[in-house]
Amino acid sequence: MILEVDGLQIHYGTAGGTVRAVDGASFAVPEGRIVGLVGESGCGKTTAVRAIMGVLAENGRRAGGRVVFKGKPIDETNTRPLLWRDIAYVPQSAMSSLDPVYTVGAQIVEVLTKRGRHGKTAARARAAELFDLVGLSENRLRDYPHQFSGGMRQRAAIAMALALEPSLLLADEPVTALDVIVQRQILDTLRALQQRLKLSMVLVTHDISVVAYLCDEVVVMYAGQVIESGPVREVLGRPRHPYTMGLRNAFPDLMSDALELVPIAGSPPDLADPPPGCRFTPRCPFALAACSTRPAAIGSDRAGAGNAHVSACLRDGEADHLRTFALDPVTWQRSSAYATS
Ligand SMILES: Nc1ncnc2c1ncn2[C@@H]1O[C@H](COP(=O)(O)OP(=O)(O)O)[C@@H](O)[C@H]1O
Ligand code: SF4
Ligand SMILES: [Mg+2]
Repeated sequence: MILEVDGLQIHYGTAGGTVRAVDGASFAVPEGRIVGLVGESGCGKTTAVRAIMGVLAENGRRAGGRVVFKGKPIDETNTRPLLWRDIAYVPQSAMSSLDPVYTVGAQIVEVLTKRGRHGKTAARARAAELFDLVGLSENRLRDYPHQFSGGMRQRAAIAMALALEPSLLLADEPVTALDVIVQRQILDTLRALQQRLKLSMVLVTHDISVVAYLCDEVVVMYAGQVIESGPVREVLGRPRHPYTMGLRNAFPDLMSDALELVPIAGSPPDLADPPPGCRFTPRCPFALAACSTRPAAIGSDRAGAGNAHVSACLRDGEADHLRTFALDPVTWQRSSAYATS
């Protein structure tokens, strides 16, 4: 495993109390694999990846857990030297990694000279090489970010992240807000880069079809917790947690538009005051009385080089049965018997 996250807890202090944005999340990234971190907006994905890099917002702090990179525990005191060189980040909005007042080329050259100690001439040559790597013409190095399309900006942000040859790339919603054709082009580029550079990658997305298209493994987050994880083919082919079953119905397949889309009613809970027990209880069509009181824990067994398929649902033993009901849209129109509001 190149990265292990174990029982991570991240708290934000706010006027309304403590927001437990990540509340005991565990997952691992095998070397040379693409792991999708998926869940609806507000489930703690961005917080988790920023915590891995030790770059949280001012009011955020790690309240518990461990992050281990290449066998060494890391936290905000020792990640700085690793950033760019070992762990690189493509932030949620590509615009936020690009400064509107400088040309894109100048910004990549700056990363190479300031962080990588390249000389100016070598940096310019390397910037052209990086542009070529992500499928941009080197003539465009002289352009400003606003002269780029959304897809080109995303490519430029990826080029910048790869400047110092990191081994782990954390990409936060890299294709959100792009049209489906461009999404596929960018995802294909990421896959090609991953294979060519032998990168390990965490791809954060709210869109499970992006995971299906690109990732080897998947970690599903709900309300700050990991509720299901494992190899993509298993987790998306035979989801065991009702939330994953619901997510699968809620997004179009990137390759076809055959399936009827069925949203999961309601929204994720307020992380300043999450429901007790399984946090999905208020939205789950399969909730039992026990679900609202017993916190569901995920198993921690791992198999071989990858991660085993695990789920935190109390009704895990009935997963095959529940899955057949989950495919019926009517199931999701019925509100939970344990809805709190
Ligand atoms: N700086 C912050 N201060 C307070 N709450 C925050 C802060 N950043 C994120 N949050 C809250 O933490 C939770 C998780 O947010 P985030 O990590 O951005 O989730 P995601 O990336 O899955 O959408 C949300 O409830 C969000 O409102
Ligand atoms: S533990 Fe209960 S409420 Fe939670 S997902 Fe499983 S069945 Fe639904
Ligand atoms: Mg986010």
